Amino acid sequence: MKYRLVTSLPDALIVRKLRNGCAKFMTNYSAQIGVWQQIRWYWKKYRREQRAGIFRVYLFWDEKQNPVGYGALQLHDDQLLVTECVKGIWRGRGYGRAILSALIQIAQVERRTLAADIFATNQASIALHEHLGFQMVSTRVENNRELRTYILATNADRDT
Ligand SMILES: CC(C)(COP(=O)(O)OP(=O)(O)OC[C@H]1O[C@@H](n2cnc3c(N)ncnc32)[C@H](O)[C@@H]1OP(=O)(O)O)[C@@H](O)C(=O)NCCC(=O)NCCS
Repeated sequence: MKYRLVTSLPDALIVRKLRNGCAKFMTNYSAQIGVWQQIRWYWKKYRREQRAGIFRVYLFWDEKQNPVGYGALQLHDDQLLVTECVKGIWRGRGYGRAILSALIQIAQVERRTLAADIFATNQASIALHEHLGFQMVSTRVENNRELRTYILATNADRDT
């Protein structure tokens, strides 16, 4: 599966559509995002944060060049907060596993621990993260919904 770092507005707009299809599973901001909102975000925030290594999005394509999903990494307290999204019609076909595996490889190269906040009701995401080695470290309730935090320590952390 091919992927590339989002560094152009056209790619950011593809991400917008994918992300709106995943919005209800997002734990930080679950509203729909409009075109102008995404354009503003891309020029005023994303480009700067991407260049600074604070936030980045990778767009994933199938062999027929269809955009099937994305993965995002946000640097926070020395950890990389991870989130993934697969377009509805492509779910359950191994793309989520491929996306998260690629993000894990990136985190290993950068020697950083990965963390994921997941709604307790999001069985697909919990299964995906657990099957790739993440472990639940805490739970909390926000807006009457249980949120679980999962962690994957990379080899670098085990070395120290
Ligand atoms: C979560 C998500 C990224 C998973 O992607 P996917 O392509 O559907 O998942 P995969 O087909 O790669 O399956 C990954 C693993 O999860 C398991 N799984 C997938 N869907 C599942 C479900 N609904 N219930 C239980 N397990 C499930 C699979 O069996 C698979 O395990 P395996 O690889 O060990 O056999 C995708 O469902 C999605 O985009 N959901 C909406 C957005 C979201 O929830 N993002 C995460 C926010 S924290």
